[in-house]
Amino acid sequence: MAILVTGGTGYIGSHTVIRLLEKEQEIVIIDNLFNSKLSVIESIEKITQKKVNFYCGDVCNRQMIRDIFMRHNIKSVVHFAGLKAVGESVEKPLIYYHNNIMSTLSLLAVMDEYHCKRLVFSSSATVYQDAKTVLPEQIGTGIIEGKAISEDFPLNATNPYGMTKLMIEQVLRDIYMSDNQWDIVILRYFNPIGAHESGLIGEDPNGIPNNLMPYILEVAKKKRPYLNIFGNDYPTKDGTGVRDYIHVMDLADGHVKALEHMESRCGLKTYNLGTGKGYSVLELVNTFKKVSGVDIPYRITGRRLGDIASCYANPSKAEKELRWKANYSLEDMCRSAWKWATVKNLSFNGDEENV
Ligand code: WQD
Repeated sequence: MAILVTGGTGYIGSHTVIRLLEKEQEIVIIDNLFNSKLSVIESIEKITQKKVNFYCGDVCNRQMIRDIFMRHNIKSVVHFAGLKAVGESVEKPLIYYHNNIMSTLSLLAVMDEYHCKRLVFSSSATVYQDAKTVLPEQIGTGIIEGKAISEDFPLNATNPYGMTKLMIEQVLRDIYMSDNQWDIVILRYFNPIGAHESGLIGEDPNGIPNNLMPYILEVAKKKRPYLNIFGNDYPTKDGTGVRDYIHVMDLADGHVKALEHMESRCGLKTYNLGTGKGYSVLELVNTFKKVSGVDIPYRITGRRLGDIASCYANPSKAEKELRWKANYSLEDMCRSAWKWATVKNLSFNGDEENV
């Protein structure tokens, strides 16, 4: 029995594949390598000393998915494949809606044809309503911060990327209502950062990084002169944005627990995967400087459109029902990210290939 991982050469997908291989699972990956590199397969096999079945292709290609199901006895699917840049989704909504939704509908149709009704879906905290519109909790020092977000928090995506996740979640709820033989776990990630301890895989975005940690790494490697901190006038501890950063290996473990949870029939469940702690931009920058010993010059600029002051998880439902809890510290996240950046840099010969 095998597990099909769509988008398995991507950032979260590849780290999850490693954890699943360590659990002696047979893994089949389909990925179109649009936002990842073939060398990730080699890195996964080097780290785990296990073989992976890899198919280079698009999940929208229903016949290719059928071929995979015909060749492998797929017992469950972890679905990561999808475009995920918030800003890009605003510029190119049609591409995002077509790619993210059509690929999922193709996958679900073939799963149904082959009576494979176990799915873990990669969703995002972006589906939650803009936290600033919810009455923030007053905290001791009088600084106002957002509320810890639980799964019953109001949903309302503010960009096409987040809307694709919201729509797919609705499709999954409707499928379950029509056929309760499905076991579906929706995982809503907060802000994944960090890398596998080996430093052989990590977050490797194309082009100018949108997210904070990849940008910090490029400043640390002197590829960029300084970090732009988007606003220091938010109602938070130091005025900069607060987020729930979670180690990508903690996230990978959450997927393993979700698959184990399905073994005893779970129906449709939704869980936040976060640490439950919020850290500001400046806290992350200062922690990175402390563990790497590298200065991170920065400039304060205006707020980024669409950003909110504070967003962090209430992870108690996953802790209780999945028996999962984030273990790594912010220092662990920064240390592993820096190791990934330096190992990759050491192997760097100008062609941007991973090791
Ligand atoms: C974090 C904080 C910025 C870059 C996004 C997606 C979300 C999810 C995670 C997929 C904010 C500040 C950032 C920079 C900065 N991805 N920042 N300078 O926006 O919380 O979430 O990634 O599911 O869908 O929305 O993450 O890393 O972009 O920003 O000051 O160069 O860092 O203002 O406060 P975000 P982020």
